[in-house]
Amino acid sequence: MVSTPSISNLPATIAWENDGLSILDQTRLPHETVVEKLTTAEEVWRAIHELRVRGAPAIGVAAAYGLCVAMRASLHLPIAEFRAQLAKQAAYLDSARPTAVNLSWSLRRMLQAAQASPASETASLLRVLIDEAVAIHDEDRALCKGIGEHGLPLITEGCGVLTHCNAGALATTGLGTATAPIYMAHAAGTKFRVYADETRPLLQGARLTAYELQQAGVDVTLITDSMAASLMARGLVDVVIVGTDRVAANGDFANKIGTLALAIVSRHFDIPFYVACPSSTLDLHTATGDAIVIEQRRDDEVTHLYGQRIAPANMKVSNPAFDVTPHELVTGFITERGIVKAPFARNLATLFAMEGDAA
Ligand code: MRU
Repeated sequence: MVSTPSISNLPATIAWENDGLSILDQTRLPHETVVEKLTTAEEVWRAIHELRVRGAPAIGVAAAYGLCVAMRASLHLPIAEFRAQLAKQAAYLDSARPTAVNLSWSLRRMLQAAQASPASETASLLRVLIDEAVAIHDEDRALCKGIGEHGLPLITEGCGVLTHCNAGALATTGLGTATAPIYMAHAAGTKFRVYADETRPLLQGARLTAYELQQAGVDVTLITDSMAASLMARGLVDVVIVGTDRVAANGDFANKIGTLALAIVSRHFDIPFYVACPSSTLDLHTATGDAIVIEQRRDDEVTHLYGQRIAPANMKVSNPAFDVTPHELVTGFITERGIVKAPFARNLATLFAMEGDAA
């Protein structure tokens, strides 16, 4: 058993204290550390939609607490109306972003907990919801730790690890997914290098991954997305580890735009390509990647940088936030229960066999 390394110099991505929800505003990092209290369903929806809290697992945890925050405003209702309102608020929060399955997964879990409860008073049903949200939060930390333990052997003395976007502590409430093996290898004293893609258009790699790894004392080098192939050609990358927003039953997976290109180039250079996937991100009800809805975001995320226009006015823009990588390009999924290799359809189903957590 590997102990969980401390990366406590980072503020908590999400905190639930005295029945109040607060998040670290990730759009302000790394320049400003701003913790924001969220007190209404609308504030939680906007925080998720605007990426102040982002990353698939963190979105799931924020939504679970967000539902508790939302339902506090309905405590005065008769219990039947409270339950009807609960379903409405869950559907509303679920509409904040479409691609990361953790959002609908955690909200469904919250609704199931309420359905299973015989509570006849709104205050006791709200307590059931809060307990379920705390359980989802606790489990998220445990999933990250499990991924770290199983991914640890992939990081060897002197190796180069490439990652994309931010699948780190900031994207979860624990050690991150793609970064969990990195933090554990670092804590174990292994010497290795990490290359962080900057991840245009919103720069999660530069602003978040480079920041949190640097804070933790990991040897991290920032590159632009277009430099990855050149680093690989020079023999500097031994393994690629990325996160994911949704893994379909056949192993096709969605992740931040640019992941597909990385997977193709990794195959060209015969570099192992791993996807860190907690069971909360596994969607066994989606058969293949073709069925994954890809979020399209605003044009100005591409035409502007920090409010400054960088493209001509009236420019036509395409801004898909994620892409889908076919399972044939994946070496393995690092899950909390072990590394899953091909054939993925069979091996993912065997390991996670349609449990409540993937339903
Ligand atoms: O748009 P974002 O920043 O929410 O996208 C995040 C990613 O694509 C991450 O790689 C993914 O959610 C995995 S986070 C552990």
